[in-house]
Amino acid sequence: MPSLSWFSRRLLPWYREHQRPLPWRADRDPYRVWLSEVILQQTRVDQGMAYWERIVARYPTVADLASAPEDEVLKHWQGLGYYSRARNLRTAAQQVVKEHRGAFPERYEALRGLKGVGEYTAAAIGSICFGLPEPVVDGNVYRVLSRVFGLSTPIDSTAGRKEFRALAATLLDPKQPGDHNQAVMELGATVCTPKTPRCSDCPLSTRCIALATGRVAELPVKAGRTKVRTRHFNYLHISNARGTFLRKRIEKDIWQGLHEFPLIGSTGKLGPKKMGQTLAERYGEGWTLGKRHGPVKHVLSHQVIQAMFWTVEAPRGFRPPDDWVHVREEALGSYAVSRLMERYLTQMVGR
Ligand code: ADE
Repeated sequence: MPSLSWFSRRLLPWYREHQRPLPWRADRDPYRVWLSEVILQQTRVDQGMAYWERIVARYPTVADLASAPEDEVLKHWQGLGYYSRARNLRTAAQQVVKEHRGAFPERYEALRGLKGVGEYTAAAIGSICFGLPEPVVDGNVYRVLSRVFGLSTPIDSTAGRKEFRALAATLLDPKQPGDHNQAVMELGATVCTPKTPRCSDCPLSTRCIALATGRVAELPVKAGRTKVRTRHFNYLHISNARGTFLRKRIEKDIWQGLHEFPLIGSTGKLGPKKMGQTLAERYGEGWTLGKRHGPVKHVLSHQVIQAMFWTVEAPRGFRPPDDWVHVREEALGSYAVSRLMERYLTQMVGR
């Protein structure tokens, strides 16, 4: 019988003693574990916990989530970003109900068949809930392995992904893959952190190559960020409509499914004159421009949004396009909106 690697031998006792008492660890219920893993792809445990608690309270079972309206699920996800994840959650819940009679599938390939469940999530659910010997590789795992083994292959390259995955598979303790995987992630989240790792508390420090060679701060290596695109958004906060207007973003783009003020995109910053002309061309003459708020810079992973919020009065008799919804100001808070919109509404409209 092959002996356990020193890695797991050191790590698992540390994990048993130091793991955070996270609610989804209590019973290994795949629905709860799946939700936690998808939320934790978006945010850290301290923020993610509140989202998890609310979603589980609102949708105690996978069937409850499957039958929820999409807008409502998006509202619960509000602030986490990457809203396709929330839409995929609901779709995957529907798949579990329809294709698997309401019980999560226990095989890796079947898990991968669920909408939004990639290699990482399938390995996490499979190992934690069903004892499948599948290695998980997330940002924490890249960091821990690159440091402990002194590996400088860029983690965002094909070669890097392959190398780290193979290493994680070799290290995996096949008898307790769920605890092993969570232990590596836990170490990365709580000890082997990006900025100021607590090497003196690390169970792997005596064999850590990065520590021995003074390379902790340099690892892991990233080849380079993909280019960031800047977009200019001009939002219309229409103030004379006994309420205002919102439009739902249905296009395949950022924030799909969320509501926002009607928008005029531009290639650069728009001044009032150009803004007035554009409004007239699109929606007819007679607009009055009021206060401006911005530009507000909103950074996403591959885009930077420069947003200007324009308070405007629509011309008398204005007929809005079909896809604008009239919303009284008191009701603005009940729509799922981007964090950018949410900030504006909180600061400027008091919603
Ligand atoms: N980060 C994401 N998933 C995790 C898990 N299961 N344990 C610790 N940290 C995590």
